Amino acid sequence: MGTSGITRRAVLAGMGGTIAAIAMTSKALASQKPADPAIEARIQRLLKQMTIEEKFGQLQQLSGNGDTGPGDGQMKEIVDRTRAGRLGSVLNVYGAKSSNDLQRIAVEESRLGIPLLFGFDIIHGFWTTFPIPIAQSASFDPSVAARDAEISSAEGRSNGVHWTFAPMMDVTHDPRWGRIAESGSEDPYLTARFAAAKTAAHQGNDLSAPDRVAACAKHFVAYGGAEGGRDYNTVDVSEARLRNLYLPPFKAAVEAGVATVMASFNTISGVPAHGNHHTMTEILKQQWGFTGFVVSDYNGVQEMVPHHFAEDKADAARLALQAGVDMEMVSTTINDHGPELLASGQISMRRLDDAVARILRLKFELGLFEQPYVDENAAITEPTAEARAAARNAAARCAVLLKNDGGVLPLARSARSVALVGPFADSRDLHGCWSGPGKELPAVTVLEGLRKALPTTRITHVQGVDPLGEDTSGIADAVASAENSEVTVVVVGEPSELSGEANCRSDISLPGAQAELIKAIAATGKPFAVVLVSGRPLVLSDWLEQAPAVLVVWHPGIEGGNAVADVLLGSVNPGGKLPVSFPRSNGQIPVYYNHENTGRPYDPDDEYTSYYLDLPHGPQFPFGHGLSYTTFTTGSPKLDKDRISVQQLKSGDSVRVSVEVTNTGPREGDEVVQIYLHDRAASIVQPVRKLRGFQRVALKPGETQEVQFDLTAEDFGFWTNDPRGEFVVEPGKVDIYAGNSSTATKKATLSIR
Ligand code: NOJ
Repeated sequence: MGTSGITRRAVLAGMGGTIAAIAMTSKALASQKPADPAIEARIQRLLKQMTIEEKFGQLQQLSGNGDTGPGDGQMKEIVDRTRAGRLGSVLNVYGAKSSNDLQRIAVEESRLGIPLLFGFDIIHGFWTTFPIPIAQSASFDPSVAARDAEISSAEGRSNGVHWTFAPMMDVTHDPRWGRIAESGSEDPYLTARFAAAKTAAHQGNDLSAPDRVAACAKHFVAYGGAEGGRDYNTVDVSEARLRNLYLPPFKAAVEAGVATVMASFNTISGVPAHGNHHTMTEILKQQWGFTGFVVSDYNGVQEMVPHHFAEDKADAARLALQAGVDMEMVSTTINDHGPELLASGQISMRRLDDAVARILRLKFELGLFEQPYVDENAAITEPTAEARAAARNAAARCAVLLKNDGGVLPLARSARSVALVGPFADSRDLHGCWSGPGKELPAVTVLEGLRKALPTTRITHVQGVDPLGEDTSGIADAVASAENSEVTVVVVGEPSELSGEANCRSDISLPGAQAELIKAIAATGKPFAVVLVSGRPLVLSDWLEQAPAVLVVWHPGIEGGNAVADVLLGSVNPGGKLPVSFPRSNGQIPVYYNHENTGRPYDPDDEYTSYYLDLPHGPQFPFGHGLSYTTFTTGSPKLDKDRISVQQLKSGDSVRVSVEVTNTGPREGDEVVQIYLHDRAASIVQPVRKLRGFQRVALKPGETQEVQFDLTAEDFGFWTNDPRGEFVVEPGKVDIYAGNSSTATKKATLSIR
């Protein structure tokens, strides 16, 4: 990634003036598609014909009720408004026939025949559920997210969906937050890479193609910073942190051409995102040149009243429109009050036309005026074999092996007996918190997957405990089956209802009596492995010591059981890495790798340093960690130069980092080579480490590969607190670490002059 328009921060800064560096506006403008004159002319023609009510109508989105057509009672308002030409979009209406029936009213019965835009949450699959997004990040392979997006876009579009509310790209440092399941990671760079890949794959090169959908970068912005990890909560954030931590994935999505952006439910330093002119208009639309539209989140406009930001709904409508919201989801404040606000001059016709034009532009780009309907005979109505294979492959690539003492895993295929115990051993609750219509289809359970893979092995299944209950009476049977088997696999975790929107937890350890089940199995003294099914990192507590092997499979999707069997048996060697730190205890949260140092960083020999008296320092498992059934060594990073000037970086020069990685073990496997930077002294304290490169490579036993990374100004610089958007690269020393986790120790040092 390169950066343009960077000026060296003046060394005179302390004398009162900075030669301010330049915002990256010109680059961002260039990255959004240039306007198509034919489309712009059609927009202007339509605007001239539209009444005020029709214009406001385009700004309204209402919610249907799944696969329902105009006959459904709940659709009455949608149908009436559509017929009157007073509705721009619907969400939660899908199905080829249902969407066509409704579209026909818009196209054939409304005065101007402007087609409706059908939006839907395709988060990690439509029919074919892929692993949840946080799991996908664990693959450290953006093509996993791209494949999900390609398949789900084709499934969705053929069912009348034009627009997905994805990708979600909220960086978070708090695993209590339920939406961590949908999020990218605790790191802006990793999240940005996935956001860009998924956006590009959803949209393709031509939005009018029958297998693509418009994407939506959400939630704008800093939603993952919710205090206490409690959903919708306050976020107070400096401009520098906003730009360095929360904004990069959105910027990457805008550069990848994302068609829409969704505002978030939180406040940003006291100003609700839905009323935030600085983020939506100054940064997104002006500094980045975003030409798409901003949709509110569900009722987000009217919620500025309970936020105590807007006096009433009319005020909320005014604030939202002025700040940059273009379309309102579900609540109708803008439509209810917009005409009177316009008449009294509180909002301008120019702003209204701008919002309408942004929405019409997408409808034209999607080809809806030419082809408003979908082919009802071509609708995909179930996962294809190819889609299932992709989902299975993805789920296996997302698995992270946290520990594997004594090589318990992979299970020997020759095992004559396996005990499969725990509440998720035969559970279909594997789809994850935001699966589409595909959640009605049965996910393959781990028991089914293992039985298919080991047809001649005696596999005994005992649930032992419920996922949430405290009843331990079933543990004895689980123990008996472990005692009678060569090896045991304990499949435990979090039901999907414990993660996702509004599903936050104050205690993120294994719910119910599941830890007791693990300890009882450990007490048998027989070999066993724990498989963790979850929507977030968990606090693994004291059972971790007793478990020889732990494999994290997240919520792995419809093919979950097959993928877990693939990994347990070693047909797939796990190569995933943690995209989020696993805390040692709840009280330690937030614990994340890309933190700043205190003036008293932890020192075991100095009492007056930053640590907890009752905990070892650092997370249980760090960001980037993940084992394999083989072993690797990563060499020291080699730089093609050990010094470079700010001027050279500014004019586009880069530093090439080469790293050798060798498979030193007995099996073929994947390693993720990771590059972290640390700026030793900066005018704004920098994270102790920041990820700036990764590459997942497959290596045969004994094989060595050299991996190269080109680091540019964008990697070495950072955003300052200047609200106008100042990105600086400063002279000084930067340590460049290479390794296979965020605790990598091999480094080279670059001098920036
Ligand atoms: C609320 C959620 O915050 C958002 O992510 C989602 O896209 C909308 N509801 C629509 O379902």
